[in-house]
Amino acid sequence: MNQEFIPFVSHSLEEDDIQSVLDVLKSSWIVSGPKVIEFEEKLKEYFGCKYAVALNSCTASLHVLLASLGIGEKDEVITIPFTFIATCDAIIYQKAIPIFVDVREDTFNIDPSKIEAAITKKTKAILLTHYAGQPAQLDEIKEIAQKHNLLLLEDAAHAIGAEYKGKKIGSFGSGVCFSFHAVKNIISGEGGMIATDNQEIADKAKRLRFFGIETDAWKRVCSEDFWFYEVSDLGFKYNMMDIQAAMGVSQLKKVVKFQKIRDQYAQMYNQSFSQIPEIDIPTILPEVKTSWHLYVIKLNLDRLSINRNEFVRKLRELGVGTNVHYLPLHMHKYFKDNSNYRYKDFPVSESLYDRIISLPLYQKMTPQQVERVVDIVIDLIKKYRR
Ligand SMILES: Cc1ncc(COP(=O)(O)O)c(C=O)c1O
Repeated sequence: MNQEFIPFVSHSLEEDDIQSVLDVLKSSWIVSGPKVIEFEEKLKEYFGCKYAVALNSCTASLHVLLASLGIGEKDEVITIPFTFIATCDAIIYQKAIPIFVDVREDTFNIDPSKIEAAITKKTKAILLTHYAGQPAQLDEIKEIAQKHNLLLLEDAAHAIGAEYKGKKIGSFGSGVCFSFHAVKNIISGEGGMIATDNQEIADKAKRLRFFGIETDAWKRVCSEDFWFYEVSDLGFKYNMMDIQAAMGVSQLKKVVKFQKIRDQYAQMYNQSFSQIPEIDIPTILPEVKTSWHLYVIKLNLDRLSINRNEFVRKLRELGVGTNVHYLPLHMHKYFKDNSNYRYKDFPVSESLYDRIISLPLYQKMTPQQVERVVDIVIDLIKKYRR
């Protein structure tokens, strides 16, 4: 087959994005300054939240969010094993303890019916992930959080543009963290933000992202006492640069256009695979709108004479890049060495892991490439059908 390889992911940087970055590079201010403020203003408008705090990654945003809320040593934070390590890292950075709760088999999101059993006197927060861009069941989880006086925090790295009961993820909630890393739906190279309606959290996060310094460098330069700064908290070096924000501002203008393409391609996959019994297509609950950050199929392995790893290898040989999101966290060496969690503790996550493949889905793909992925996947299924 001579056709070009279809990568798993590729960003959509266009001329206007590049020009926007060049303008900053040619200006006199390239670190955190007016572009970061502009990006925060635009994000606030887009999400409909009261405060937006930009940082240099979602990981940093999660860390600063937990630190701003005073989550610390020996506090317990409920989260899922079926997420990227960053969700959990933030908890561990604060010397708090991640408590895993298994996910739902259909949505990959936290299973609300399993949360209460994991709550103890030390539990301070629930930090959930909106897996693949599909919002978790926020109302049910909020009810549990309120009943037990817990904070409800969201890792929305996948979920820009996603909606829960008609409201954008990020437009409500005490702390919602987004990612603009190069593989995300819109990008700033590296980048993240905290969306919140809570002024105290926003103010503290703004200090913590830059050494715990009360006023940021840009504001200082513009003020009379430009030389003075005071450290009020032990902070971090997590600030976003104007170079990154310029890319973000430009990409944010296209978020709706990009989403339409993702919606269209996801529907193409859905329609093509829905009649194939060896494949389960994603289940999207009626009350949500997913951002389709990932398109994840589940193989029905008992109908196939090939396992997931072999399937992924064959797809690669045939010209399709894929990925697997995720090896459940408790199955990583770090958790085997540093926690009491063991294999079989989270059977839903474990069995999902054996079956899942994330297929290419990004705005730079052409409809013809989506069709080619479909043909190659279906051909493989036919070849290895039991
Ligand atoms: C669920 C989840 N949370 C957090 C992150 C971390 O994002 P960042 O790379 O911006 O730190 C990622 C990155 O892929 C992610 O997938």
